[in-house]
Amino acid sequence: MAEEQPAKVAGKARKSSKTSPIATANDKTDEEFIRDYLKPSQGWTLWTHPLTKQSYSLELLSPHSLSKDDFKACFDIIESTSGEDYKSASVGWHPAMKKKEMKSPDLRYILVKDESGTVQGFTSLMPTFENHEPVLYCYEVHLLPDLQGSGLGKHLMNFLITIAENIPSTKKVMLTCFISNPNGLRFYERIGFTKDDFSPRDRVLRGGKVVRPDYVILSRETARGGSEGLVDGELEREDGN
Ligand SMILES: CC(C)(COP(=O)(O)OP(=O)(O)OC[C@H]1O[C@@H](n2cnc3c(N)ncnc32)[C@H](O)[C@@H]1OP(=O)(O)O)[C@@H](O)C(=O)NCCC(=O)NCCS
Repeated sequence: MAEEQPAKVAGKARKSSKTSPIATANDKTDEEFIRDYLKPSQGWTLWTHPLTKQSYSLELLSPHSLSKDDFKACFDIIESTSGEDYKSASVGWHPAMKKKEMKSPDLRYILVKDESGTVQGFTSLMPTFENHEPVLYCYEVHLLPDLQGSGLGKHLMNFLITIAENIPSTKKVMLTCFISNPNGLRFYERIGFTKDDFSPRDRVLRGGKVVRPDYVILSRETARGGSEGLVDGELEREDGN
């Protein structure tokens, strides 16, 4: 999940000039984004459930290309899988705000549809800046119960990792997860995410009471995670291409 966390809002406001690789990525059409960053193998739009053998289709789309039904299905899936986590957190559950965030123009969705064309899960992602660093932010990853534990979550997150690796200068894939979602936390840990340095820390109040944040920021570095301040094209030169 991702929500109106202060760090992310601040990061978005600091979006760099038109020449940054992040701006370049966000200017691309969906077809260009797939070709240049997802660089998929043939057949990437099909996924078969390992147990039921049912087929699912995958597609990458910007919010403006989502049909009303697909948008509603994504919203309903978030509400069903994570609504309680939002409600019990300080951020709360605010449908109008969530829908507005889900329409952010720089988001891209990867939808998972069953054979009838109904959305059964999705992830959404955005190339952006966080704390002055170019990152790929995972806003959402949610699967309906029949797809959970199937390997599909990892399959979708691998797309994000590939995209992050292919957008020049991108340092990491980042996301937020509620502390109240231990399954989500274990999933991310299993696929190599660790607590980010910018994750909020416990606060000790004057009377000694410790206030624990109700979410954690996790990240997984790209191969170039440690390198500094590359601009468009520099990565290729560094790699000798
Ligand atoms: C979280 C979610 C996307 C994970 O997708 P998934 O398809 O269930 O997970 P996968 O089957 O791909 O699991 C990938 C790996 O994580 C491990 N894993 C997944 N859930 C786990 C859990 N609860 N505890 C321990 N390990 C877990 C799997 O064993 C697997 O390990 P492996 O690669 O060694 O086999 C999915 O369960 C979901 O949509 N949950 C509800 C919504 C949600 O919580 N989203 C995250 C919001 S921040």
